[in-house]
Amino acid sequence: MGIKIIATGRYVPERVLTNADLEKMVETSDEWIRTRTGIETRHIADASQATSDMCREAAKKALEMAGIAPSELGAIVVATITPDHSFPNTACLLQEEIGAKNAFCFDLSAACSGLIYSLVTAQALMKMTPNLKYVLVLGAEKLSGIVDWEDRNTCVLFGDGAAAVILEKTDDGNDSIKAYNLGADGACKDILFMPAGGSRMPASLESVQNRKHFINMTGKEVFKFAVNAMVSSSQQAMTDAGVAPDDIKFLVPHQANYRILKAVAQRLDIPEERVYMNLNRYGNTSAASIGLCLDEMVRNNLLQKGDKVLLTAFGGGLTWGSIVLEW
Ligand code: UT7
Repeated sequence: MGIKIIATGRYVPERVLTNADLEKMVETSDEWIRTRTGIETRHIADASQATSDMCREAAKKALEMAGIAPSELGAIVVATITPDHSFPNTACLLQEEIGAKNAFCFDLSAACSGLIYSLVTAQALMKMTPNLKYVLVLGAEKLSGIVDWEDRNTCVLFGDGAAAVILEKTDDGNDSIKAYNLGADGACKDILFMPAGGSRMPASLESVQNRKHFINMTGKEVFKFAVNAMVSSSQQAMTDAGVAPDDIKFLVPHQANYRILKAVAQRLDIPEERVYMNLNRYGNTSAASIGLCLDEMVRNNLLQKGDKVLLTAFGGGLTWGSIVLEW
């Protein structure tokens, strides 16, 4: 038995928010944003568009590439921190939208590490479930709904989007995921979180007035943590897969900040030309970011059979994870 990635898809909303637009909203500059983050534009969903709507578009593209019907999906996993509702989960909403009536459905919350956590979870489920042939995994976020558009420390960083991956169980014994490493450190929960809206601080007039329903971040702390976590997690995954940095065709890191990505690549000894980046166009889309990269790479024919790809991410929790893929 082998679990293979057979298709990908992506969707980003039409509306583009530029650094020049942000200059009119908060005290910032195109120059500051470019040099400190590498971001030039990000896509922002319409008020009427929810995370499941973006999932639907990405899922359709992936199903088309896979050449399978929605009814063939045995499970749907949506990695997100911006679900349409607390419940029902976003995967259930998507299931109805695309007519995947045979799929069981759940969301997974691991912030920006969500897609990596979900791919590993999907593979494990497929290994232990005899009739689970196809699983649809998505990373999708409408971060614009939880960004404080008056806070220049965070609002310049984030964007919206959805990415889909379809896994198939085959007979040939080769898995796409050669090795993985997952981790978390709840002691660092306060450096990247949303204070209100859960059971700790339910929504109230006061919570809204005090701007507690937005991403709250200690940027510098997150930066340091991100580099260390992605480097050590990647090294562990490469060791477990029996590969060296030279064997990696592409490093695909969570698209948080160009300076973070550069530092990770340097410390892993992977030259910058082998690091896939699109954060200049999309900003940080949390759980969607690695999937948006993968789909672009697939559709631009950058990956050949046998290529080794290293995915690595960190996010709120704090969580982190890495996967060595063989394409
Ligand atoms: O998915 C995970 C999500 N989070 C991240 O990935 C964030 C990781 N952290 C970072 O990417 C960086 O820490 C930031 C991009 C958020 C900030 O960059 P930095 O180089 O760490 O800047 P800083 O926070 O040290 O701020 C430097 C200065 C400050 O001014 P003073 O105190 O030196 O006068 C900030 O107030 O830059 C100021 N600043 C801004 N200036 C213009 C902060 N944000 C902005 C802004 N425009 N948007």
